Amino acid sequence: PTISRHDYQPYPYHLPRVSLEFDLNAAQTRVHSRLDVERVGDENQPLRLNGQDLVLESVALDGRTLSAEEYQLQDEILTIFPTSASFTLQITSLCKPAENSSLMGLYVSGDKLFTQCEAEGFRRITWFPDRPDVMSRYRVTLRADPKQYPLLLSNGNLLEEADLPDGRHEAVWEDPHPKPSYLFALVAGDFACREQAITTQGKRDALLQIYSDRGSETKTEWALDCLVRSVQWDEQRFGLELDLDRFMVVAARDFNMGAMENKGLNIFNSAYVLADKDSATDSAYRAIEAVIGHEYFHNWTGNRVTCRDWFQLSLKEGLTVFRDQEFSADMLAQDLSGAEAASARAVKRIDDVSTLRIAQFPEDAGPMAHPIRPESYQEIGNFYTATVYEKGAEVIRMQHTILGEAGFRAGIDEYFRRHDGAAVTCDDFVSAMESVYIQQNPGKDLDAFRRWYSQAGTPRVKVDLDYNAETRTCSITLGQRNEAVGIERLQSPLLPKPPLHIPFALGLLDQQGKAIPLEHDGKTAETVLLELTEEQQTWVFSNIPQKPVPSLLRNFSAPVIVDVERQEADLILLAQHDTDPFARWEAVQELATRQLLALTRSVGEEQQPEVDPRIIETWKRLLLDADLSAAYKTRILSQPTEKELLEKTSPMDPAAAVKASRHLRRQLGEALASDWLSVYRNSAGSDEQYTPDPLSSGRRSLHNLCLYYLMAAGHPEAKPLAVAQYYGATNMTDRMGGLSALVHFSNSPESQEALNHFYEQWQQDPLVIDKWFALQASAPGTTVETIKSLMLHPAFSLRNPNRARSLIFQFCMNNLQGVHTSEGYEFWADQVIALDQLNPEIAARLARAFDSWARFTATNRDAMQAGLQRIQQHPTLSRNVSEIVSKALNIQ
Ligand code: ARG
Ligand code: ZN
Repeated sequence: PTISRHDYQPYPYHLPRVSLEFDLNAAQTRVHSRLDVERVGDENQPLRLNGQDLVLESVALDGRTLSAEEYQLQDEILTIFPTSASFTLQITSLCKPAENSSLMGLYVSGDKLFTQCEAEGFRRITWFPDRPDVMSRYRVTLRADPKQYPLLLSNGNLLEEADLPDGRHEAVWEDPHPKPSYLFALVAGDFACREQAITTQGKRDALLQIYSDRGSETKTEWALDCLVRSVQWDEQRFGLELDLDRFMVVAARDFNMGAMENKGLNIFNSAYVLADKDSATDSAYRAIEAVIGHEYFHNWTGNRVTCRDWFQLSLKEGLTVFRDQEFSADMLAQDLSGAEAASARAVKRIDDVSTLRIAQFPEDAGPMAHPIRPESYQEIGNFYTATVYEKGAEVIRMQHTILGEAGFRAGIDEYFRRHDGAAVTCDDFVSAMESVYIQQNPGKDLDAFRRWYSQAGTPRVKVDLDYNAETRTCSITLGQRNEAVGIERLQSPLLPKPPLHIPFALGLLDQQGKAIPLEHDGKTAETVLLELTEEQQTWVFSNIPQKPVPSLLRNFSAPVIVDVERQEADLILLAQHDTDPFARWEAVQELATRQLLALTRSVGEEQQPEVDPRIIETWKRLLLDADLSAAYKTRILSQPTEKELLEKTSPMDPAAAVKASRHLRRQLGEALASDWLSVYRNSAGSDEQYTPDPLSSGRRSLHNLCLYYLMAAGHPEAKPLAVAQYYGATNMTDRMGGLSALVHFSNSPESQEALNHFYEQWQQDPLVIDKWFALQASAPGTTVETIKSLMLHPAFSLRNPNRARSLIFQFCMNNLQGVHTSEGYEFWADQVIALDQLNPEIAARLARAFDSWARFTATNRDAMQAGLQRIQQHPTLSRNVSEIVSKALNIQ
């Protein structure tokens, strides 16, 4: 059954107060709920409650137990027929946490109990109107065996704790903030806690706490530090203060996603909480900062103002991803100014745009293409997508770009002034922003901008530059093309899609690479913001002394693809001189991509063409440029991933993409070997104390990149260096750098020995063992056979999502050489089917590995299609997987 955005109906009842009592037990938990219900209109309406995998024990209306004839129970809906305007409903039901492998609702992880309710998991706990626009005050009583579950947590404030006569204990929690059911949480078990008391800007005392498995408390210092900085940052940048007396974060080993922003009780995948220098890499530290920030920022953007319905998911996710991206960028640029700060922020921007291009652009071109505010879905769990999150964040970022920092802040203030405490829509958000835009631009509006919310697909912007030497003017013409994608291609392939409002940041350089000041909107600046709102528009710039080289879509000011004719020489000039660090990186990427595409075309030939010496020269200059930070250098000297390249081949040809990538890498490694070697030596860390700060982590990333190129080149010194780096490392970043260089480039006794050593050393630490599996899953020589034997390893389990991701997802999604074989596709289909019996949400993600099957070369295409068909024919498929495969097979 498909649910459509336009079918929204308000819920006919209010539930001002909810009281829940839990008799917690892993095998069987009894839940007593008491709902105060008030009718909204004048007419009696049936009261419909959602429930899933529950055993209903009793229903009572105003204290009177109902007989089975007095209510209806079918298709996971319990219907009551009330006869008065307000009443109380008491329901007792059972659920079975230990049997719940879906990790939605109440489930067991290790010896503890956790919940995950977003989007529709609360209905696995008790019968309830499980939708985000029904908001209630919750009072929660938890009862359990104190030995197994000494700690009992839920949202809000702890009212009382008591020992019970039957030997159990209980805790009573009350959350003063009304919330939708998806923000409910409970946790029970034995935990270590690290905490810090803080005082907010408004002089409110609050306690920040991080709970983790006993023994892991040594690894929560960084997470707590991130949380403290998140609180401060939201005060400073957005004027948003913590509204709770205590804010808890709890780490769980088994978790479907990254983390969850339950009010006052965030539950996290332990991968985004636990870190110390011996077990976590620099990028793990950065990821923890981003996710701690993300969930904390949801406290306002998501919780104080929530979504009216799940079609509005990007209202909270796009906005909160934008906020966490800005938080991370501000942390990187802290203490820096001018060009250095810009370059530090650009590092984060580059990483975010890469993610967008790898994960979201293909989604926007494939069978699952949807606007950031989807029009319909079968299973909402399938719409926690790169489009809703990452493109959603780009859409927020464009509003920030158009309004400016102060204007955006005014818009956010207005948004909270209008909607604090309410469940609202994406349109409400844009309207708040528009109120500021109208003041800034009398007579204009955000009508064309709003289409970003209803139009799927990545727009293409064509750029034409025309220089007139006589008038010394340069005209820039931008034209946009929005093609039908996904389901639109079946429904209305030829219907023109109206133009979007696209902010396009532009700079012009002269032939010496100097920025030309541009007059625009009565101001003179190096970068101008062109607001493209029609199919095509032209802007004319005067006083341009010579034909300029354009620097396009600076800082990636809109999530579009730029089409432009450009000479290699222009790209080389930009690579050396562009003052916009993002556009500079982009120019280098474009150079490498052209080279790679040329290589893919010559794959069948005897001899691979030589790499253009100008590329090597550009690379060398950048590598030796003393003005660039190590972190930025690492980005600019990394070639586009195999996956990005694959996307650009047509038909998609994985073997060619892999071969071309390796060829370029080897050539760059060989041609600059002595430089890689000297930079490697100069970027070696001293043994002083490890910190994950941007400067030293940048240095480590460049150090590892050098080793990588040296290994790719087969340089005689490379392997001994990698071995020495691995065994001599004093932190996980260096250790992993050494190990992955060995495993990726040499199937040698040394690499096997190091892998064994690594396992011996770290077998007690699940997050490190995830890295061990992931590294092998992505290694070039790895085949389906390798993966199957790793699955028999005692440390492997399909039930733990992190473990399944580290081995199976890593292989199916990132090991192009290994998976794009007939055995690879068969293996993938088998795993989707196996996972679906355990965890539909995770299975559906794996099912998407070959969304773009129809664009591949014939042999690959047919084999992938056969895999999809085999999955589809499986007799017991979840709604999650079935939506994915039916779309993949029907929409291309
Ligand atoms: N709201 C969470 C976050 O973005 C994601 C939770 C999604 N959960 C799920 N089971 N799909 O931080
Ligand atoms: Zn989120």
